[in-house]
Amino acid sequence: MAITKIKEPAFHITGESGWINDPNGLIFYNGQYHAFYQHHPYDTKWGPMHWGHVVSDDLTNWKYLPIALTPGDDFDKNGCFSGSAIVHGDKLWLMYTGFIENQGGESIRQVQCLAESSDGITFKKHGIVIGEELLPEGYAPCDFRDPKIWRYDGSFWCVVAARKIEGRGRILLYRSADLFNWEFVNDIFGADSAGSMIECPDYNEELGVLFFCEQFQPSENGAHLNIHTCRWAVGRIDYSTGLFNEQSRGIVDWGFDVYAPQTFRSKPSVMMGWLNMWDRTVPSEKYGFAGMLTAARSISVKDGRLCQEPIVSCGDVYKATVGEGFEDKAKVGVITVKATELEALDIRMRSDGTNYTSLTLKNGEWVFDRSKSGEEIRGVEKDPDSLNGIRRMPFSGNREVTLTIVMDDFSVEIFEDGRALTSTIYPPDDAVGIELTVKAESCHYERASVALTK
Ligand code: FRU
Repeated sequence: MAITKIKEPAFHITGESGWINDPNGLIFYNGQYHAFYQHHPYDTKWGPMHWGHVVSDDLTNWKYLPIALTPGDDFDKNGCFSGSAIVHGDKLWLMYTGFIENQGGESIRQVQCLAESSDGITFKKHGIVIGEELLPEGYAPCDFRDPKIWRYDGSFWCVVAARKIEGRGRILLYRSADLFNWEFVNDIFGADSAGSMIECPDYNEELGVLFFCEQFQPSENGAHLNIHTCRWAVGRIDYSTGLFNEQSRGIVDWGFDVYAPQTFRSKPSVMMGWLNMWDRTVPSEKYGFAGMLTAARSISVKDGRLCQEPIVSCGDVYKATVGEGFEDKAKVGVITVKATELEALDIRMRSDGTNYTSLTLKNGEWVFDRSKSGEEIRGVEKDPDSLNGIRRMPFSGNREVTLTIVMDDFSVEIFEDGRALTSTIYPPDDAVGIELTVKAESCHYERASVALTK
């Protein structure tokens, strides 16, 4: 029995009920954007993974379709784990990880499976296409997951997360002529990653960017504080060697709550991530949902760096010129602050005087604080910033600054100069104040409503 959802975000994707994690199979098919996600419809905790499914015309208003994949066959007995989608011969194909647990969790196997659909709604499973026999010697069959597929030069290619036995995370490259028969090409880094395991690799051939998440990773002197970190690496796969030639790398999001980002095959390139994080409490469980996806983000590479901008379909815009202080009211919307020669800025959102979520420009960096946001969210990180509800993001220092904040009932997504800082928040319903204090040559404020169709 699915559980009942009594509250939900205004426009961010969440499950029809229950738990969701990673976005899966992001694709434009038959004139609509399709997003799938890891889903446990029968509980607000992670469990046997299904693929939930939504479609949209504008990447903002999403409509539920029936659950696309349900676990239970021999090859995905205990879960249909993360994966991706491709259109081929007018059909929509899903490649995902079958999760099989035997002997009470003693023997775990992860294998890559295929499913197809002619209508984009119902899927026929084909079973395993990359099994244990295609895993090179010395790699762990229990940590082999999250295939991301694309087409290049007449072949299908996919990257799959893996791990060396007694080692750390790796990414393996496979090639196929027909989606059914695959061959191993190479281990694209040829070395252990910093994380104990890599998850959800995504190579975007159009942009030349590789995304991957590292689990239980050292914080590299505080360079990133989440215990599980998502990275981008700008570079290209050399298809003749199967190795990734990396030019630069960084972290995808500076906030508390983005994991498993995946990109659509589209122009411009669009990315969405899980708007949550492993090993945190989720106060919305009592409302019958846990986990959301981020707003869609247009992504590009500038000067060797990943840049993100939110894509939200907007309605009415309220505009104001800001003196030193300024107040507004809204729970959901897109705020844009444009400032020239910005020296200081402090914005409080979802404020009722006692509870608020703030962003402050301090000592040349953005400081985000959710310690007074509302309901407490506990994680496992033990550094002072994490314990104090703080995350930091570099400030561009540009003469003309554009700060964009996407607000929904349970989240804020903050963007400046292509960088993003995203966090869940669980404020009281009536905390709707926005208070802005600025020191700048000039400053303009805009708040757009979200063009919701429901
Ligand atoms: C990442 C992940 C994937 C896995 C899925 C299971 O968040 O752990 O590696 O396929 O979630 O739900």
